[in-house]
Amino acid sequence: MIIEPVIDGVVARTAHPLGCKEAVRQQIEYVQSSSPIINGPKRVLIIGGSSGFGLASRIALTFGGANADTISVSYEKGPSEKGVGTAGFYNNHYFKEYAHQAGRTAINIQGDAFSPEVKNDVVEAIETYFEGEVDFIIYSVASGLRRQDDKIWRSVIKPIGQSVSGATLMLDNDQWQDTELTPASDEEIEATVKIMGGDDWESWIDALINSESIANGCQTIAFSYIGPEVTHPIYLEGTLGVAKADLHQTSHALNLKLANFDGGAYTTVCKALVTKASAYIPGFSPYLTALYKVMKQKGTHEGCIEQMQRLFTTKLYNVEHVPVDNERLIRIDDLELDADTQQQVTELLAQLNSNNFSEFSDYQGFKQEFLALNGFGFDSVNYQSPIDIDMFIK
Ligand code: NAI
Repeated sequence: MIIEPVIDGVVARTAHPLGCKEAVRQQIEYVQSSSPIINGPKRVLIIGGSSGFGLASRIALTFGGANADTISVSYEKGPSEKGVGTAGFYNNHYFKEYAHQAGRTAINIQGDAFSPEVKNDVVEAIETYFEGEVDFIIYSVASGLRRQDDKIWRSVIKPIGQSVSGATLMLDNDQWQDTELTPASDEEIEATVKIMGGDDWESWIDALINSESIANGCQTIAFSYIGPEVTHPIYLEGTLGVAKADLHQTSHALNLKLANFDGGAYTTVCKALVTKASAYIPGFSPYLTALYKVMKQKGTHEGCIEQMQRLFTTKLYNVEHVPVDNERLIRIDDLELDADTQQQVTELLAQLNSNNFSEFSDYQGFKQEFLALNGFGFDSVNYQSPIDIDMFIK
């Protein structure tokens, strides 16, 4: 079959296998030509490793100098009679293929990271493939839903206390949509913290400590966002910000637990980037398109892969001490928060409106990156050539 891009608002409904393969290949090529990770971890678990920061960290650690073997957990859909499946499914498939070609172990566990069953499956995989111990655990889950026993939690992206107005750029029809976000209820805040806070990260570390799967020196990281003031009403001061504050607190508790193994736990604050998760944040896309425009003009733009390779080579592994700020956060969002960058972004944002956003901001780059996340828009891929989806189903 011929697979075309299908976008519904800000959600992709199709993915192209060969484009996903090309996206993984290009990321591998980038880290192979970058300054290498020295003394990196050898046995790595990535929870949320099929796209965005999780996939980029997996690629960086396997191909960017550390030669790590990896186990990745993700929640993705394979192809079926109902659809072609998600990009993350193909990213997993082709990452594994490239890793095997390079002589590295790559295990993909597809299932619900929040569930005890998947945690048990991972402990078993660590026994089988890692001689029972893991050196580094990356928690990179972004989810809107968590099931626990009979309860279902749904996270929301809303302000707290008062309504916030902004705009969302709709990727299906290239329209600027004015958005009014009403404040979250207490239950919605609680649900968002339950999903995007530190609770499940801590459950993972506890499960791995209990199963004696933690190697001496084992470290763990999770990802956060702070951003400039202009984004605070919808992010830092909203439901996601409360969840991230909980994640930061959890890193301190986990740091104490892992100190027993001469290890540590950190939250890493990343820059704003187009991913499946961030495209979904209402009111955030005008900021992203303005940021992309300014950072590309200044030559400081980075994608997930550049961020992860820089994180490992300058903050976590090629250094004597992990550099942190006064809240013990690793900051890799420095280029985004550069004062001149933010001044230019603020000026540009003030000019943007529904008529000019496509011309003045980097909306085209934003959309191109969103399509690329789903395997579309690569010159080297022949999109007219039919794809044998049955082969993947088998
Ligand atoms: P993403 O959507 O690209 O990746 C999310 C990953 O979580 C995927 O691998 C997905 O399969 C997995 N996942 C979702 N639900 C799951 C479940 N129930 N069980 C197992 N796996 C599940 O998202 P992205 O943007 O890479 O986000 C990762 C982390 O980085 C999040 O904590 C996010 O808040 C943070 N972050 C993102 C920024 C951005 O601009 N994209 C900026 C700073 C931090």
